[in-house]
Amino acid sequence: MSIQIPRGTQDILPGDVEKWQYVEETAKKLCHAYQYKEIRTPIFESSELFTRGVGDTTDIVQKEMYMFEDRGGRSLALRPEGTASVVRSFVGNKMYGNPGQPVKLYYSGPMFRYERPQAGRYRQFVQFGVEALGSEDPAIDAEVLSLAMSIYKELGLKQLKLVINSLGDAGSRNAHREALINHFKPRIDEFCGDCQNRLEKNPLRILDCKKDRDHELMATAPSILEYLNDESRDYFEKVQRYLKDMDVEFEVDPTLVRGLDYYNHTAFEIMSNAEGFGAITTLCGGGRYNGLVEEIGGPETPGIGFAFSIERLLAALEAEGVGLPINEGIDLFIVALGEEAKDYAVKLLHTVRKEGISSEKDYLDRKLKAQFKAADRSQAKYVAVIGDDELKENKINLKDMTTGEQEEIALEQFVETVKGKLS
Ligand code: HAM
Repeated sequence: MSIQIPRGTQDILPGDVEKWQYVEETAKKLCHAYQYKEIRTPIFESSELFTRGVGDTTDIVQKEMYMFEDRGGRSLALRPEGTASVVRSFVGNKMYGNPGQPVKLYYSGPMFRYERPQAGRYRQFVQFGVEALGSEDPAIDAEVLSLAMSIYKELGLKQLKLVINSLGDAGSRNAHREALINHFKPRIDEFCGDCQNRLEKNPLRILDCKKDRDHELMATAPSILEYLNDESRDYFEKVQRYLKDMDVEFEVDPTLVRGLDYYNHTAFEIMSNAEGFGAITTLCGGGRYNGLVEEIGGPETPGIGFAFSIERLLAALEAEGVGLPINEGIDLFIVALGEEAKDYAVKLLHTVRKEGISSEKDYLDRKLKAQFKAADRSQAKYVAVIGDDELKENKINLKDMTTGEQEEIALEQFVETVKGKLS
């Protein structure tokens, strides 16, 4: 019996992988423009990092984390997200002492969540994310949001909606928390077991419960915006002002709470409005997390970031019918006929490749016609034909596949001529 790929995972094959590379490169280019530097952290971490960081009442930690004990008895988890890891590294490497502040980082790599797979939801998915640590300037919130939007726009997405909210500071959140408990408590027995457990521990989590989302008390729940103190309101207003100054369109949605515990102040999501995108419309999520560095054992440091999955980004591109300018064709295909010519082709291929010319030859001992077919399939710009006779005359026939023109080129001038034509 053949072995199946694990549920919720996928192979990304040649033909598709170029799209992944293209979007990752575009995101990296924009990170460079915004001066975010790459960080790479391990794929597994101590489980405690996420129970403390993401929060032990969240779905991610309670239901979705891949945890295991290693041979030394340590409890480890495949990372379900990147923020906690980046913060752990920020603390461990004492980046708060770096002269360049804030520390602006980006990352990309696989994340793991034991979720029910469906369109746009995988158990292994690739997140691209950024984190800016060390600044509490609302301008950095606006920068982070605009960076996310510019990645999508640069790739050609148009049907986007940026939704923002403020979860306020600790004071505002506590006042809101009390209001939520009072709101849900009288009828909490109508909610699922998880919500009942969350009522006292973390009532905000009730608002993103997938099971109870249609309960009438959800729609009438007190909004955080009514509980923002002056400082929090002022902060939120500044973020909005900066976004307007940058012509970044957004909507305020007071019900947006996000599924991770570390957020305060700015929280946001980017959705796709594209028809046929599917049930899950969130492309990107992020927000501010001013207490997280302390929670992970570092000095009080504010932070903000976002992450999106490449899977959902590609799905949005497809839903909007946006093609990526990916050129899969090669520069040169070498067709060889005859034993000597075949041997010569090996050497010639090596020489042109050293010059950076993307090139290929036949390895299946194909006939002339089939070699030309292979050249077509490779979408080569030029095809070089070498036969034993041509070799004797020190010549190679070069065909321009766009114009169909052919010319004879002296062996010793071949590489330079092809390079010239390609440049
Ligand atoms: P999150 O909302 O849990 O936030 O995930 C962010 C994004 O990851 C989602 O918007 C979605 O694009 C993608 N994603 C999540 N789960 C899946 C899945 N099962 N399959 C495919 N894509 C998925 C975070 O992870 C935070 N760390 C974001 C952040 C960074 N906040 C501050 N800094």
